[in-house]
Amino acid sequence: MVRRFPQARLTGLDLSADMLARARRRLAPYGDRITLLHQPYAGLPDHRPGFDLIVLSYCLSMINPGWETVIANVRQDLAADGLIAVVDFHDSDRSAFRRWMSVNHVRMTGQLLPELHAHFRPLDATVQRAYGGLWRYFHFIGVPG
Ligand SMILES: C[S@@+](CC[C@H](N)C(=O)[O-])C[C@H]1O[C@@H](n2cnc3c(N)ncnc32)[C@H](O)[C@@H]1O
Repeated sequence: MVRRFPQARLTGLDLSADMLARARRRLAPYGDRITLLHQPYAGLPDHRPGFDLIVLSYCLSMINPGWETVIANVRQDLAADGLIAVVDFHDSDRSAFRRWMSVNHVRMTGQLLPELHAHFRPLDATVQRAYGGLWRYFHFIGVPG
């Protein structure tokens, strides 16, 4: 994203210090265009008039409990003409696999897409099969509804 949008300033959040350390190393050349925050995503109300784009990549399915609040916070933190972009696990027909993923803190019960539709008008919402159908993932791009 930092290369694709050369004028943009980017803010990244993660609970994991290790993930942030990797990001910090890789993004060092981009200096003060990048802000990395070691905190849970609980809204960023200082950023008015809001973010142009908020990307959630394979994290909502791990935020249990609290994913509904994160989606509501994104709605608050986006600029009026901003975009949300999400890629994440959707579901799996295999109960043993769902249980295994829940041991790894990932919920795969199709809970995310309906909540995203409730908060945002979709420009694209696509569910796709992965690993021969072992699970499905989705991507969702939306604007404040
Ligand atoms: C499967 S990893 C995905 C990492 C990265 N977004 C990517 O797509 O490569 C899930 C990440 O979500 C982070 N995470 C989990 N709960 C979080 C929360 N409440 N706020 C911010 N990050 C969280 C974890 O620390 C972990 O790094």
